[in-house]
Amino acid sequence: MINQIKSLIKNNLEKYYKEKYNVEITIVVEEPKNSNMGDISIPMFSVVKTLKKPMPSIIEEAKEVILGFDLPILEINPINAFINIFVDKSKLAYQIIKNVINEEQNYGNSDIGKGKNVTLDYSSPNIAKSFSIGHLRSTMIGNSLKLILKKCGYNTYSINYLGDWGTQFGKMIVAYKKWGNYDEIMKDPINNLTALYVKFNEEALNDPTLDDEAREAFRQMELKNQEYLDLWKWIRDESLKESKQIYDLLEIDFDSYNGEAFYNDKMDEVINELEQKGLLKEDDGAKIVDLGDDMPPALIKRSDGGSLYITRDLAAVFYRKKEYKFDKILYVVGNEQKLHFEQLKRLITKMGYDFADEVNHVNFGLYLTNGKKASTRKGNVTKLIDVLNTAIKLAYDQIDAKNPDLENKEEIAKYVGIAAIVFGDLKNYRGLDVEFNLEQSVKFEGQTGPYLQYTSVRIASILKDKTFDISNCDTSLFEKPHYFELVKEVAAFKTTIERASIELAPSVICKYLLNLAQSFNKFYSIEKINVEDEKIRNTNFALAKSVRIVLNEGLRLLGIHYLDEM
Ligand code: ARG
Repeated sequence: MINQIKSLIKNNLEKYYKEKYNVEITIVVEEPKNSNMGDISIPMFSVVKTLKKPMPSIIEEAKEVILGFDLPILEINPINAFINIFVDKSKLAYQIIKNVINEEQNYGNSDIGKGKNVTLDYSSPNIAKSFSIGHLRSTMIGNSLKLILKKCGYNTYSINYLGDWGTQFGKMIVAYKKWGNYDEIMKDPINNLTALYVKFNEEALNDPTLDDEAREAFRQMELKNQEYLDLWKWIRDESLKESKQIYDLLEIDFDSYNGEAFYNDKMDEVINELEQKGLLKEDDGAKIVDLGDDMPPALIKRSDGGSLYITRDLAAVFYRKKEYKFDKILYVVGNEQKLHFEQLKRLITKMGYDFADEVNHVNFGLYLTNGKKASTRKGNVTKLIDVLNTAIKLAYDQIDAKNPDLENKEEIAKYVGIAAIVFGDLKNYRGLDVEFNLEQSVKFEGQTGPYLQYTSVRIASILKDKTFDISNCDTSLFEKPHYFELVKEVAAFKTTIERASIELAPSVICKYLLNLAQSFNKFYSIEKINVEDEKIRNTNFALAKSVRIVLNEGLRLLGIHYLDEM
């Protein structure tokens, strides 16, 4: 909190000397060793040296200048060559609260990303396979990062890089031609297509020639066989509907759905460039690029001419660099693809480009159930949309028990259920595996999304139908530790968001919001907010309101709705 004043003093003093004397002086602003000497201390040696004036007149001048900045300053005390400043903490606290209330959802906006472009690649499910838990993680983390980066001033461009190309489509086409029936499938496309894919994999265990047929079918697709491309388009459109259900529920959108197929006609160019630069090597009929001793080579073209995942990603990264002019590109993808992205970066460097450092693999861990990897694969498909709906149902039961007369119970339950799932995920540092417990995550107490919504709702009900005048406050209240601590928490919002944007970690915001909610609930257990005394009441209302503003905005950055009632 005091840091903000420190940097204001530093910048303004430097500006003053520049304007008045046309000199560049670096002002150092520190904290005195002994806190009873003040909160801020400015050594003036450098100014004396540059301006060649006696110390007392330099100090006197600086003191006047600082007082003119209109900062919450209690006292200025020059000692020898130092100007020591006591900050008026209650005035400072009051100013912060006033800012929050004035700025509302813009509070915490930062410009550290101003003028910079970030491209985000997330969600990216594999069409024809079902939407996995990993894709859900990628969706939620990517969406939150997008919101956080926007808040920090970045221009963002979000891409759902659909896995809509590759041998799995060869498999689907073979399976469809062997066992599929259009009318049957259309009765329940997503499930029936998934079932076909599962059947293919089962049959292929006993009959390896099926895999050869699938590769051939995919090769035909790459050669633009129209019948196959029509089938591909149909399967893609139907499968995408499953993902869209999830996006609709979570209110997530993308700027582009250009998936792997989009790069089918853009790979030759990059393969030619690899060839020209002498990087491409023949290996058993396939084409590879050696990447050094610490990494296996990248397989660029299969011996049958088929393209690979990395070939498409390589074409995509150049296309995106050109098209979106990114300063940073984020791939929100599971830990298991670490090597893939290391190879991608090495390829970029080997080709003589200097932007590999802008490529970030924003990795994440697995979901575990009882210590084992949770899976939606192979027949025992737990549909994610069902998991989400279960969370919503559990939320509904809780709301119904607590507040049976509530209007819009259904809608509120939807937002609470989603908060449970999203927060239950994002509160964990993304790189780690997560043990997920649905029942726990839906609870209104503990480290949950619904707990944060509930805290915000508590404040809303305290403030309901009340008006207050922020200019008529008792600022001396902020000298009390429980008041001051809560303001300090509120004031840390912006640096928290900036830290989350630097670490690319929504969990930083989750932890912060839990602390804020806890501090508020502690405050509320000590202090009756709606009191007789008008000035005290105004102060309390303003403080509570500022906490709600920050909680709500923090939730928004995670992709969670705040509520007025629940
Ligand atoms: N579809 C891929 C998968 O599910 C993820 C794609 C990630 N993005 C990328 N540009 N490789 O494994």
